[in-house]
Amino acid sequence: MKANWKNRTLFHGDNLGFLRAMNSESVHLIATDPPFKKDKDFHATPDSLAKGASFQDRWVWERDVHEEWVDQITDDFPQVMNVVNGSRASYGNDMGAFLCFMAVRLLEMHRILKPHGSLYLHCDYTASHYLKELLDAIFKPKNFQNEIVWQRTTAHNDSKRYGANVDKILFYTKDQKKWTWNVQYQPYTEEYIERFKRHDADGRAWQDDNLTAYGLSGGGYEYEYKGKKALWRCPKETMERLDSENRLHFTRTGGIRLKRYLDESDGRPSQSLWEDIGPLNSQAKERTGYPTQKPVELYERIIKSSSNENDIVLDPFAGCATTCIAAERLKRQWVGIDIWDKAEEVVLERMEQEGLVEASGLFNVDRPRQGLLLYEDLHFTSEIPLRTDDGAFAAPPLKTIKKTRLEEPPGPRISRERMYEILLEEHGSRCAGCDREFDDSRYLELDHNTPRSDGGINHISNRILLCGPCNRLKSNTFTLSGLRRENKKRGYMASQ
Ligand SMILES: C[S@@+](CC[C@H](N)C(=O)[O-])C[C@H]1O[C@@H](n2cnc3c(N)ncnc32)[C@H](O)[C@@H]1O
Repeated sequence: MKANWKNRTLFHGDNLGFLRAMNSESVHLIATDPPFKKDKDFHATPDSLAKGASFQDRWVWERDVHEEWVDQITDDFPQVMNVVNGSRASYGNDMGAFLCFMAVRLLEMHRILKPHGSLYLHCDYTASHYLKELLDAIFKPKNFQNEIVWQRTTAHNDSKRYGANVDKILFYTKDQKKWTWNVQYQPYTEEYIERFKRHDADGRAWQDDNLTAYGLSGGGYEYEYKGKKALWRCPKETMERLDSENRLHFTRTGGIRLKRYLDESDGRPSQSLWEDIGPLNSQAKERTGYPTQKPVELYERIIKSSSNENDIVLDPFAGCATTCIAAERLKRQWVGIDIWDKAEEVVLERMEQEGLVEASGLFNVDRPRQGLLLYEDLHFTSEIPLRTDDGAFAAPPLKTIKKTRLEEPPGPRISRERMYEILLEEHGSRCAGCDREFDDSRYLELDHNTPRSDGGINHISNRILLCGPCNRLKSNTFTLSGLRRENKKRGYMASQ
């Protein structure tokens, strides 16, 4: 599906509206760094480029959670609501409020991702465990790829416990089998380099490696080479070629080993512990003073690993646009969203400093281009784009949505509480799944007759009341008739 916005757009406003307005399956990579739930406010450094910027990272259920979000999640994604409710029970309503805020947005991000796309969610110990549960519920556990641990500072002083000096980045893919992946290499450590102790006459450093195939599952080649008979990893012709290229090391004890040169190694394939990307120090050139700004190098690694040139990268919590800068440097298309209203000025200035935008081009768009971006190439807007796809809301992660989704009747929406009352008035406190009548109507839960994921509408005509056991059984049988059949088979019907 094609993007319904221009490349290099920075949207200003609450990201939920923009995310809901983006076409399904239109983005290759989402790399984002939302608030972490730190229960404090963040302010930019005074007299910095980003001076005056601030954002709040405090959460209150009654104030921050919209009834509509609870409805959408409870009705369409009950497994997600279970995570939210679990966090309310174990941590408190404030964590539930943060997760609810994230859940509605992550559901849309899942919908917007292309089938082979990936999501990287930056967080820290405060909520990373709850966010992982949320992502398991939305993306499915089998699509979890890594929990990256980024050492964001060498030391964080804490007089009462270990210094918390790492952030987490949760990496999920949309698909279980196929996704964009370009292996990255990290520089070797000093200790590793020291292993290349031997040198050729021309100074090339090397270490030796085993050439025999004993104990390997793939078998090997048995032959004698220069007086040494063994089961070798390579056929005789390869051995001769290696010898002619001076790549064999003949040991004093008569063994033959392979020379591995330091200058031919790519480095260590990236692991999930990232200790080699330092924090932004106070003198860093890229520093804007924006609170919680992350190093461009960090997002460059993510973008290089999980996207290709010209792919579309989205950051819905863009801040001072670190992800967008990294994407621009790497020749990706990008789109950012942030609620902060001064992002435009800072991002332009940053792009100039980075040498990506031609400074004078801001005022003189008629000048011949010198390979740099001009002001007109960047788009800053608060206008919500129009969907050009089928307009479906967040697609359910467990089932494919039917194209023929029914329209909800026009008119004011009835609240969940009112639907509940109407059904009680009409049917009494009787479970629609097993016909049992309950003394206390609180045993009954509001559910859909035809599930939302099958196109069922959010209307009283499609609502039923189910007891807890039937509600759980229905999530496996999917339809009310299937549930009643299953109850009959098990002898659970009250009327029998
Ligand atoms: C941790 S900061 C991101 C910092 C960014 N990675 C950088 O390097 O500058 C989180 C950002 O989320 C933004 N934000 C919070 N709630 C938002 C919302 N509902 N919609 C859009 N942006 C939001 C804040 O304004 C803040 O800039």
